[in-house]
Amino acid sequence: MIPEEFIQELKYHSDIVDVVSSYVALRHRGKTHSGLCPFHSEKTPSFHVYPDTQSFYCFGCGAGGDVVTFIRRIENLEYVEALRFLAQRAGLAMPEDVRDDGSARMKMRILEINRQTARIFYENLTSPGGREGLRYLRQRGLSDKTIRRFGLGYSMPGWDTLAKQLRSQGFTDEEMLSAAVVSKGRNGSVFDMFRGRVMFPIIDLRGNVIGFGGRKLGEESGPKYLNSPDTPVFKKSRNLFALNFAKASKEKGIILCEGYMDVIAQHQAGFDNAVATLGTALTPEQCRLLSQYTDQVLLSYDADEAGQKATRRGIELLSQIGMKIKVIHIPDAKDPDEFIKKFGAQRFRMLLEGSSNATEFAIARIREKYDTDTDDGRMNCLKELAAFLAEIPNPIERDVYQSRVALDLGISKDILGAQVASLQKRMTRSRNRKEDADLRIYAIKGNGTNPGGINELQRRNNMKCAVAEDKLLGVLIRNPDYFRHIAARIQPEQFVTDLNRTIAQVIYRRLEQNLPVDMPSLSGELEPEQMSQLSRILLDASGIKSTQQETDDYIDVLLQNQNKPTPQQIGAMDDEQFREYMASLTAGKR
Ligand code: UTP
Ligand code: MN
Repeated sequence: MIPEEFIQELKYHSDIVDVVSSYVALRHRGKTHSGLCPFHSEKTPSFHVYPDTQSFYCFGCGAGGDVVTFIRRIENLEYVEALRFLAQRAGLAMPEDVRDDGSARMKMRILEINRQTARIFYENLTSPGGREGLRYLRQRGLSDKTIRRFGLGYSMPGWDTLAKQLRSQGFTDEEMLSAAVVSKGRNGSVFDMFRGRVMFPIIDLRGNVIGFGGRKLGEESGPKYLNSPDTPVFKKSRNLFALNFAKASKEKGIILCEGYMDVIAQHQAGFDNAVATLGTALTPEQCRLLSQYTDQVLLSYDADEAGQKATRRGIELLSQIGMKIKVIHIPDAKDPDEFIKKFGAQRFRMLLEGSSNATEFAIARIREKYDTDTDDGRMNCLKELAAFLAEIPNPIERDVYQSRVALDLGISKDILGAQVASLQKRMTRSRNRKEDADLRIYAIKGNGTNPGGINELQRRNNMKCAVAEDKLLGVLIRNPDYFRHIAARIQPEQFVTDLNRTIAQVIYRRLEQNLPVDMPSLSGELEPEQMSQLSRILLDASGIKSTQQETDDYIDVLLQNQNKPTPQQIGAMDDEQFREYMASLTAGKR
């Protein structure tokens, strides 16, 4: 553990405005300083630094926190590494008794193993035993230049060829296991994780080899692609294949696709702005990562059902953080790689230029569901399309698509327009009713953006509780003296949203131990995303005094939610129970 006094000392020597200024050009007006957010791409400043709370918050992407969180994010460091970074900057010596668990050294060793492994795989391609790998890559249409650029390679088919080579270079089995280039057999000995596969090294933004993907050559058993598991240097959910190249591309936007081969084929054809997820679905972290380098993503997924599903997920996650999205529809080929091979780079460029936006994609998907040659199919299709159109917030955009749909399905634009307008009226009415109910007591302050996919969805579904939780956490941080009173009434486990529950657990534990709960103290125990949420809470709470009465009201909201039966429970009630339940509802209203 790092002594609390040192952290306070460090905090004193690391003014957030000073530190941030070396990364972002800040202008100040009144109390706050603002500039272009370094964590997503933008043209007007929505990134703010608050000297009073020593915190920052971006209204565009929702990144926030204290000075340590800032350094963690921008330098991509773990907590202790960020402290060391700031200490160096401030000319302070890190205290000796930092429990050195050897993790920094282990990471270095793993990176070294990965680098050597990538080199060995690459050299295998030209060794007698590895010819098959080279033949495979060439047969997939890759040039030697492409192979070299991506550092592609081949893992020998033997059980421990790599393990032996690495051992002879002085790496221990334990280190190889940590790097996950080998696995442990039942008899305790280690064997190569990748055998007889063409290898794709995964390289991070600093040029480190952090993991591998390996494809089998033929129909032999085992998965088509095998990927390194997460290791101390590799988090699948936070990296994208080829982002190291794409971030420097002159092409507009970033193309997001499904597989290694798609990316490589596109780069070879001149589209060096293509990246891929690493054998998993797109994550909110990857979206945020993308937003640091571009404001437009071109979704270029496979033409099959899985690809369409991935496209919908991509649209949802990326639009939550305000990214521009285009969808590339790939005709007559199953994926970008095959398309380029069949029709060439020029045609692919035409696809990119003709790519549709998210709205067009959704309309096309609805159209596909129905057989519009029959009257019935056309009717139902129109109904669904009208409902979809009614949801488009921008009136001009809505009008454009309304015309297109009407033309497409051969009906009058006015009739469709009337249908959409009436649906809209109905929707606004029911939405207003719902929002009134949700927000009767607590108006949300600020713009309330908080990207982060799942968390944001959970907030939206529990808006009233989420707001009450925000308020309570704000009270706890600013009025730790209320803690006893609050803790006697409600525990963190009773918080509804996962994000706030985690934060509450940390704050409760610290307050129980009489530890400070200001931002810098908390940043040792909270991840950057949680710190972002915290700075949003503090921002909302700034300048507002909370009375004990209000605090009790927030708690009541959460407690009431606990007693609310689920729809399943309501369904299972007998008549008597149901009557009682209904009575309790009306009683509550009075
Ligand atoms: P695909 O099956 O679409 O492969 O998987 P592909 O990219 O078209 O590959 P080729 O052209 O047959 O060589 C897309 C991505 O899903 C992950 C990989 O990251 C792959 O690039 N995947 C696929 C796995 O992780 N494991 C598998 O067994 C298959
Ligand atoms: Mn493919």
